[in-house]
Amino acid sequence: MIPMVDLKKNYIDIKTEVINEIAEVMEGAQFILGKKSRALEEQIREFLGVSNALSVASGTDALHIALRALEIGHGDEVITTPFTFFATAEAIVYVGAKPVFVDIQEDTLNINPSLIEDKITEKTKAILPVHIFGHPADMIEIMSIANKYNLKVVEDCAQSFGACIGDKRAGSFGDAGCFSFYPTKNLGGYGDGGMVVFNDEALYESLKKLRNHGSLGGYIHEMIGYNSRLDEMQAAVLLVKMRRINRYNEQRRNCASIYNQLLKDIPVSCPIEKEGALHVYHQYTIRSKHRDLIKERLNAQGIASVVYYPIPLHLQVAMSYLGYKSGDLPVAESLSRQVLSLPIYPELEREDIYKICRVIIETINSL
Ligand SMILES: Cc1ncc(COP(=O)(O)O)c(C=O)c1O
Repeated sequence: MIPMVDLKKNYIDIKTEVINEIAEVMEGAQFILGKKSRALEEQIREFLGVSNALSVASGTDALHIALRALEIGHGDEVITTPFTFFATAEAIVYVGAKPVFVDIQEDTLNINPSLIEDKITEKTKAILPVHIFGHPADMIEIMSIANKYNLKVVEDCAQSFGACIGDKRAGSFGDAGCFSFYPTKNLGGYGDGGMVVFNDEALYESLKKLRNHGSLGGYIHEMIGYNSRLDEMQAAVLLVKMRRINRYNEQRRNCASIYNQLLKDIPVSCPIEKEGALHVYHQYTIRSKHRDLIKERLNAQGIASVVYYPIPLHLQVAMSYLGYKSGDLPVAESLSRQVLSLPIYPELEREDIYKICRVIIETINSL
């Protein structure tokens, strides 16, 4: 059996440190908004090269709270990608705004900047790009459009911890970068967690209040906020993984390069890395018209694979009130029928990648 990720294998490797960190939390008996989450915020702030980082309870909350802090709400439109996890659009709806979907680039699967300007109206307030599967969206183009039209930019970095364009990290380009620490993410805890990073000092107080019931303390509430704090146990686990994040991302990149090499001679599209971009391979996603057959053959050999994402967001039932129909975003629709994500995680063995690729090559050659 080859799983998509093997969190147990990872745990065995870091067990002693994790147990010690968690024991420190229990002995200190400060379980919410204590020194572990503050230390994590400080380390992530420095790692990403931003002025501020505030931890929250999940990646979804990070998006939701960032949009609220930027005062995006009822009647506003937010431009985003249809090819992402549902939470991206959910957060836009939570604040009362309308998601406006723009089709994606065939090669990176990220929002296509050349199609954005056409969708800008006087109601447009923000662009919400996602660095899907760990490849950064084209932030240079996106920021130049945002500056031209005076729009806010919120980066969904749930899948891209450590990704870069040049020497700048994903999450440091826009008004806010939103991270998820869901257990399977490149930097994942042992439960839910998230972080908002940003440079504008003016956002600091409102984000701090929003995550804690609209209060900076003392039972004085200046706005309606949320209960959205990263607990100290999660922060403790994340600190252990943060010490190794560069190695983990390097190991993922190494797995991807073995896949690329083994699959290069068959008619299957492998993920690309654009010039100047650093891909952190949260997923290794191939594309083939024979996707379903490949998936079936892998499954028969005990190899996991997952279709991220089978239905683009504009065609999801929950979004039907927006009035999109099949054919509106043809690239996302066509790719959702071809994509298949293969196992990738830092501890994945070279021999397992050989086995996976052998099944794919045999499937293609049998056609
Ligand atoms: C692209 C994307 N955005 C948002 C989220 C939401 O993050 P969370 O599960 O931490 O709420 C996820 C992951 O789950 C994601 O992959």
